[in-house]
Formats: sequence, structure tokens, C-alpha cells
Amino acid sequence: MVIDPAIESHYGTGYERSRLFPGGRPSLEFVRSLELLERLLPAPPARVLDVGGGPGTYAGPLASRGYRVHVVDPVRLHVEQARQGAGASPAASFTAALGDARELAEPAASQDAVLLFGPLYHLTGAADRQRALAEARRVLVPGGRLLAMAVCRFASLLDGLYRDWLDDPGFRPIVEQDLADGQHRNPDPVGRPEFFTTAYFHTPGGLAREIGQAGFTGVAVYGVEGPGWPLVQEWADSRRREQIVFAARAVETETSLIGFSHHLIAAAAKPGSAAPEVPGEQRR
Ligand SMILES: C[S@@+](CC[C@H](N)C(=O)[O-])C[C@H]1O[C@@H](n2cnc3c(N)ncnc32)[C@H](O)[C@@H]1O
Repeated sequence: MVIDPAIESHYGTGYERSRLFPGGRPSLEFVRSLELLERLLPAPPARVLDVGGGPGTYAGPLASRGYRVHVVDPVRLHVEQARQGAGASPAASFTAALGDARELAEPAASQDAVLLFGPLYHLTGAADRQRALAEARRVLVPGGRLLAMAVCRFASLLDGLYRDWLDDPGFRPIVEQDLADGQHRNPDPVGRPEFFTTAYFHTPGGLAREIGQAGFTGVAVYGVEGPGWPLVQEWADSRRREQIVFAARAVETETSLIGFSHHLIAAAAKPGSAAPEVPGEQRR
């Protein structure tokens, strides 16, 4: 499968490895996403397929908590970086391979959980997103858990407002297109890489609908960053950090507020119930 060359060259710069750790400090997106993963994933040592896992951003932390993690990503540099990260920390080791969410190499019913933290926003066509969701469903055990991240439809509008970009003739049309149909395109990826790359931005309701259409049950959508994300300077202060995270957690499923987050995480289950564990036996 071929990914959009704009997406490939965006990530080819290698910036994704440090994106969630500006100045070496874990960002609000990372802290909250990891908190939601820890809460919503089945208990370790569950098998987690991290599709679109990039340089292993969540794979390492999850492996260190006892999960058996395999990263799949179509960007060669990300797979190399993920393998380096996995090799550097034997206590948090995981595996990584090139691949595409639309055609997974894993056998049916082989995973306890699948993360789609990337594919649902980089696959801009609804049919491709349904293929990725169908593949996630295929590889999950009955009762297995899907956790899928989306970029929120309103992220560019809010970014533009708080960063004072809305008068920028390079950014305003991006905002208008995002609001109209969620199709995010950056016409100047070299000059303005901060305007991101080719993507589709979901409304919270649209995300839940797509996942339901793919045959998952119990779909719940969480706002990741919450209402405190514009307090960028305050994030350096531990007292304010605690408040920002508290606020995000407090309204994470409040439908009138989750669209204020940049990112959404949907949790859902493959229908059916997992086979009971044989006491004392470790599954692989
Ligand atoms: C912003 S990065 C996210 C990395 C990491 N999962 C995280 O949430 O921080 C998006 C990832 O999605 C991957 N991606 C894009 N298209 C994909 C596809 N069709 N299948 C699987 N992964 C894809 C990219 O290569 C990139 O690593």
C-alpha cells in the first residue's frame, strides 16, 4: 500500500520523535494519552498492536508496564527509530515493522488491543478508514479493545485563534476547509511545516459513527487535552500542570466540551467475549 507522499516527507524530517517532548518535558497530549491508555487498555501482559505507532512514543512506556507491544508504521524512519528505542531499553522492549493500517500482516484474533493513533487522521478517504477499522477488528480477539485517536475538526480554528494565525493568508483557507469538510491540506509544507500535513479531522460524533459502522460496540469518545491546552506557558509550572490535567480529566467525556481538545481518543470493543484464561497459563 502506498501512503501519500506529503505524509511521508512530513515525517521524513524525523521531528515526530521529539514532538511530544518539547524541551525534554512530556507534553499535555502525551501525559493525557498515556493516562487514558493505562485506564482503557486491558491489563498487562495484554498483546497490543500499535498501528501508526511512529517512533515508539507509546510503545516504550507500555512495554515498560508489561504489555507485549508490536509497532506497525509505513514510514521507514519511524520503524528504525522505534527499533532503536526498543533496543536501548531491555526492560521496555517491543518489536516494530513496516506496514499499513489497511492491510495488517497479523493473523485474525491475535491481539488483545489495537491502537490506531495516526491512521484515522492520515487516511483522508472514508473507505480507507473503514478498511483500517476492519483490519483492526479482524486482528482483535472477541471482546478485544480498540483505541483510536483522531484530530478534532476544530483544532486549526482554535490554534489559529490562540496563536493569532487567523489573519495569516496561508492559514485562514486551511481553517475554512477544515471546518467545511475536515479535509486538512498544507499547501506550503516546506515553508510552514507547523501547519501539519495531509489529514482528515473528525468531529467527535463523526468519529463515534465511523467506529460504530465498522462493527465495534460500546464506543466512547474522550477529549485528550481538555480546556487547559491554550495555557502553554503555564505547563512549565508543576502546580498549574496538575490543574490542567485535572480539568482535562474532569470533562473528558462531556459532550459539550470534548470538541475543545485537539485530539480525541475513541475506545470501543470487538463484539464477543474473550475466551476465559486457563489459570496459570500465559497467552501469547
Ligand atoms: C502524528 S504520528 C503519531 C505517532 C504516535 N502514534 C503518536 O500518537 O504519537 C502519525 C503516525 O501515523 C502513521 N501513519 C500514517 N498513515 C498510516 C497508515 N496508512 N497506516 C499506519 N500508520 C500510518 C505515520 O507514519 C505516523 O507515524
